[in-house]
Amino acid sequence: MRASSVALLLPSVLGFVVPIQKRGTPVSLPITARYGASKLSNIAEVDLARVRSMIENAKEGASGLNSREPVPLKNAAVSYTISAGVGFPPTIYNLVVDTGSSNTWVGASPNKPYVRTSTSVDTGNSVQVLYGSGFFTSDFDTLNLTQTLIFTQSIGAASSSGGFENLDGVLGIGPTGLTTGTVNNTDTIPTIVDTLYNQGLINNDLIGVYFKPVIENDTSTGNGKLDLGDIDKDKMIQSVTFVPITSTPPSNTFWGVNLSIRQDYLDSQLLPPAAGIVDTGTTLVLLTSDAFQKYQQATGSVFDSSTGLLRVTRDQFLKLPSLFIKFGDEALEFTTDAQAWPTQLNTAIGGTSDNIYLIVGDLGTSSDEGFEFILGQTFLYKYSPNR
Ligand SMILES: *[C@@H]1O[C@H](CO)[C@@H](O)[C@H](O)[C@H]1NC(C)=O
Ligand SMILES: *[C@@H]1O[C@H](CO)[C@@H](O)[C@H](O)[C@H]1NC(C)=O
Ligand SMILES: *[C@@H]1O[C@H](CO)[C@@H](O)[C@H](O)[C@H]1NC(C)=O
Ligand SMILES: *[C@@H]1O[C@H](CO)[C@@H](O)[C@H](O)[C@H]1NC(C)=O
Repeated sequence: MRASSVALLLPSVLGFVVPIQKRGTPVSLPITARYGASKLSNIAEVDLARVRSMIENAKEGASGLNSREPVPLKNAAVSYTISAGVGFPPTIYNLVVDTGSSNTWVGASPNKPYVRTSTSVDTGNSVQVLYGSGFFTSDFDTLNLTQTLIFTQSIGAASSSGGFENLDGVLGIGPTGLTTGTVNNTDTIPTIVDTLYNQGLINNDLIGVYFKPVIENDTSTGNGKLDLGDIDKDKMIQSVTFVPITSTPPSNTFWGVNLSIRQDYLDSQLLPPAAGIVDTGTTLVLLTSDAFQKYQQATGSVFDSSTGLLRVTRDQFLKLPSLFIKFGDEALEFTTDAQAWPTQLNTAIGGTSDNIYLIVGDLGTSSDEGFEFILGQTFLYKYSPNR
């Protein structure tokens, strides 16, 4: 596998950076946040459904088509999307920026089917069902990401779909290895980052992501940024720290790293050295059941069944200590504020507007499973400007 390291950009942006050899021109794509079409009653359950199938798929590895469970994306509380044109003349699709999968495909929304044009080439292969969204065919087509970034890419085209509403497909920017066994007669298929790099269209084999929390019904663009081929140095106040991809399976299948988490005032570590992943398709910060219970006790929080999140009183919140997340030699402070769900979004997830919900959830795994945490969107919020 190409990927040998990730970088954590401290502290204003988190990026994960996949290796690093010089060539082309960096590309910056605006990200738009979209809310799940229907109000969600339990975002923790939505995250868990995704996580369970990710772990299953990773454990089964490349055991062939139809062996994998669908990875739900469609119900996510907030989806971060970029806009991409496919074909000529291009049809514009809103694609979820997903580092937890690596196939790029369109046609999820019933309103936006894949439109074949003169640039489409049917490969005759089929792509396995990854998202519970009908059957796919595999095509080569022209992908148009900006006025100047136009290239030919292997994509999936959904021929039927269910319930994605305002999402049209997925931009899968996880490791190439996650495409293993997804397409008939094909070993792995290149991700868009592979293609851009291999065609010399970007300088470095590298991505940077930042997400901003957004106000409900705020339709303006600019909820984040996806950088291909370079990191936006304006978004950083210190240099990049690189940490290796973990060797622990199944986290090593994803953008996985080793880390440990300490909470002030606790004698022992909240999460002892562990392997887990960074994932833009997960909403919360999820920890093993042991670590989660320790966190719940230390915070005095209660489980709130309407949101699936932990809830604290204002007094408890004011006393909530920082978490220190240690990657290699570098410890990131995850402050009190960063541990709260953005209150302006409380009602969007079935909560009450003046409650305080915490973004740490139970991953439901134990420490021997090699998958002990997920740092999702709410982790990225902390490292965005304006927060
Ligand atoms: C792809 O593989 C599946 C499962 O083995 C099979 O049902 C399907 O017919 C194959 N499609 C093609 C185009 O070979
Ligand atoms: C690429 O997309 C841009 C913006 O949507 C559009 O103006 C341009 O015509 C497209 N170019 C091609 C070759 O599809
Ligand atoms: C968002 O829009 C929905 C539907 O129009 C409305 O019911 C809801 O109150 C709005 N939320 C906010 C915070 O304005
Ligand atoms: C990560 O942790 C595992 C388990 O302790 C260890 O074997 C490995 O060397 C560590 N580092 C990397 C880069 O995987």
